[in-house]
Amino acid sequence: MFRTHTLGDLNKTDVGKKVTLSGWINKRRDLGSMIFIDLRDRYGKTQLVLDPEVSSIAYEKAKDFKNEWVISITGEVVLREKVNPNIKTGEIEVVVEDTQVLSKAKTTPFSIFDDKTQTNEELRLKYRYLDIRREPLLEKLKIRHLAMQETRNFFSENGFLEVTTPSLCKSTPEGARDYLVPSRLFAGNFYALPQSPQIFKQLLMVGSIDKYFQIVTCFRDEDPRADRQPEFTQIDVEMSFDGKEKLFSLVEEHLKRVFRKCKNIDIKIPFKRMSHFESLEKYGTDKPDLRFEMEFHRIDDIAKKSTFAIFLDVLKTNGCIKAINVKGGVDLSRKKLDNFTAFVNPFGLKGLAFIKKTDNTLSSNITKFFKEDVLKELENKLDIQNGDLIIIAAEKEGIVNQALDHLRRKIASDRNLIKENVFKFLWVDDFPLFEFDEENNRLKAMHHPFTAPCTKDLDVLEKEPLKVRADAYDLVLNGYEIAGGSQRIYDSSLQAQIFKLLNLSDVEIRQKFGFFIDALKYGTPPHGGIAYGFDRLIMMLTNTDNIRDVIAFPKTLKGLDLMSEAPCEVSEDQLNDLNIKTKDFHPITW
Ligand code: AMO
Repeated sequence: MFRTHTLGDLNKTDVGKKVTLSGWINKRRDLGSMIFIDLRDRYGKTQLVLDPEVSSIAYEKAKDFKNEWVISITGEVVLREKVNPNIKTGEIEVVVEDTQVLSKAKTTPFSIFDDKTQTNEELRLKYRYLDIRREPLLEKLKIRHLAMQETRNFFSENGFLEVTTPSLCKSTPEGARDYLVPSRLFAGNFYALPQSPQIFKQLLMVGSIDKYFQIVTCFRDEDPRADRQPEFTQIDVEMSFDGKEKLFSLVEEHLKRVFRKCKNIDIKIPFKRMSHFESLEKYGTDKPDLRFEMEFHRIDDIAKKSTFAIFLDVLKTNGCIKAINVKGGVDLSRKKLDNFTAFVNPFGLKGLAFIKKTDNTLSSNITKFFKEDVLKELENKLDIQNGDLIIIAAEKEGIVNQALDHLRRKIASDRNLIKENVFKFLWVDDFPLFEFDEENNRLKAMHHPFTAPCTKDLDVLEKEPLKVRADAYDLVLNGYEIAGGSQRIYDSSLQAQIFKLLNLSDVEIRQKFGFFIDALKYGTPPHGGIAYGFDRLIMMLTNTDNIRDVIAFPKTLKGLDLMSEAPCEVSEDQLNDLNIKTKDFHPITW
């Protein structure tokens, strides 16, 4: 037997017990007359005492012990002279009578016991199994587990069935590039790894599973970002006969349970809601961070009354003018404001105008272009008080929105306006059904092609498709899109019409979605659903802005697994089996 207790178990009620413990040597202190060891496992740390008067053999052995060796000991639990309030077992220590080395360890490439000092992330990824021993990652994995358990409990208690869907399947249209898997038995044919189980969960609805959920791995070959992984986890949900309102309250109840369990926080439900249009108008993005203010104000009407040529030109060419009020921003130096201008340049915004208010007076190099009463109008619209700084951007709407969105977040972060442990949820809905794909000169589904159009917009579907709104929604938390979903089309002819609008030919529709359109013809209930980005949810629960921090074995931003060194070249034989010839080979330097 290697252990009677784990290293987080013992306390003063165990004093006097003989115990056997095993774990990793976290730290060893040799005081000459005595050796102290902190032994560690995933449950905690326990202090061991090696006293030559108790066991000279154990004491002599311990002189050679090194950090991260795995040892086993037997000994007696005693009260500590000085309690360590920082660890669970801080009231006791174990006086060692016998010890055995189970496994020696090489010197680790970074310190395990010192997890406070910053360690290069690449090194941590290469030796991920060592990083997992350290508290920061270990704690996040524990929270991930809790959230997963609570999710399974919640959905099961509410009558949902967890159904496993395939990983080798036909391409699913979520807008990213597929990861393909060649078929060995049918040369030249490929499976795709699922970008999401979208089609399957809808088929489960046709199959009468009216409440489905699954915690599932999805694969998308897209440009990586700090909140994206090529392989990530979704909590995937679909329901029949219930509609959007029921779904929203289910998700709210679920998240309330998860936040209570994992963070001991009571989040307020129901969540705030905003249309996609309002979100872009006020924050320039469909995933606004509502932990801080600085809403945008459109000032086209006011700017029109000025004589400022730049504003007038922008308005003439269908651009827009938006302003934000940075409360207390008058203290920002000229240099800082110049930095703001440089910051927005890469988004296509050539300049910014600034107005400051001090001693009841507005000062700026552009106020001379405005009449007094027009300035007053501006003051009222933006509620300008003494101490405020107004930032104005004029350009094409897309550019203004993107630039001011980034600037708004930068200012909030620079000025420490973002408080920890504040969670601002927001439902964004009424997305457009389509967007225009300039590159290919055709319509593209904004969510995916199975999303139902809002019934009230159906009459303009053929004539003005870009005006049609979708019954689609995203859930945003602190500026992250943590979930997205929609109510689906359940009528096969409407589904065929949408495919047509997306410029898919009859042959393509048949080839890609024939089975799905057929299925819709066999009695399909009204249905809809949502998928949460589970990793992103865990990022929120563990206060990190790096998705790799919440995944045991993540990939780098370039999609590499630094530990196992994947992807890699495969043998000629394997390729022959698959009937594949590679055109090019780019060796990877590890
Ligand atoms: P969507 O594409 O919006 O919807 O994805 C749902 C949620 O998954 C998360 N997510 C990601 N997380 C990490 N890395 C990625 N590469 C990544 N891509 C997406 C986001 C996102 O909100 N089938 C639909 C859902 C539905 O309609 O029910 C879907 O997958 O948090």
